[in-house]
Amino acid sequence: MILAPSILSADFANLGRDVSAVVEAGARWIHVDVMDGVFVPNITIGPVVVRSLRKVTDAHLDCHLMIVDPERYIDDFAQSGANGITVHAEATRHLQRTLCSIKERGLVSGVSLNPSTSLDTVAYCLDVIDLLLVMTVNPGFGGQTFIEAMYRKIAQAREMIGTRAIQLQVDGGVTKENIGRLVRLGVDNVVAGSSVFHTDDPATTVREMLAIASSSAKHE
Ligand code: DX5
Ligand code: ZN
Repeated sequence: MILAPSILSADFANLGRDVSAVVEAGARWIHVDVMDGVFVPNITIGPVVVRSLRKVTDAHLDCHLMIVDPERYIDDFAQSGANGITVHAEATRHLQRTLCSIKERGLVSGVSLNPSTSLDTVAYCLDVIDLLLVMTVNPGFGGQTFIEAMYRKIAQAREMIGTRAIQLQVDGGVTKENIGRLVRLGVDNVVAGSSVFHTDDPATTVREMLAIASSSAKHE
């Protein structure tokens, strides 16, 4: 299981320090939330920050684009050192083409679904998806509560993926309390923002979450 701390809840004035701390603690991915104030109500960061992060870490930079027409920015993120780009199915008109163009650049192609969006939306694109992100909150802000109805969607996503080489990622409201249940449902990759960075010691929290995840996997 991969834990991807979301820098949305980190201290932007000390980003390099915060990222190094969680990577040293075992987080192999860093989740970068890109928001445009149109697709979601919030505005965050863009490729220039990815470029700076690339200089200070070898971790996988997982860029979650919550922006309209994300295909406009694939080259910029690729050139900034992103390892993966996840777009929202609701935000791009030609999802299959967008995913292909991410893959063509040698990056992990991800597609994200808002809580209300059906899994059917991606059923005919599975061959060009490397990562399926099931949003467990409505995107836009850190620190929201996990939407319980998403447990059933996660189980259905796992079933749809079957034996395909597609990572199942979950984002929003993940905590030490629910990470074990997510692992047991077959989630491969969890994003966690506030539950990691809004603690006294994010590195210890990462170790604790990874330990819970690994013991939950063993007891399956
Ligand atoms: C929400 C973002 C998340 C966010 C998660 O729109 O996509 O990645 O940082 O934050 P938490 O883990 O606090 O719910
Ligand atoms: Zn995210």
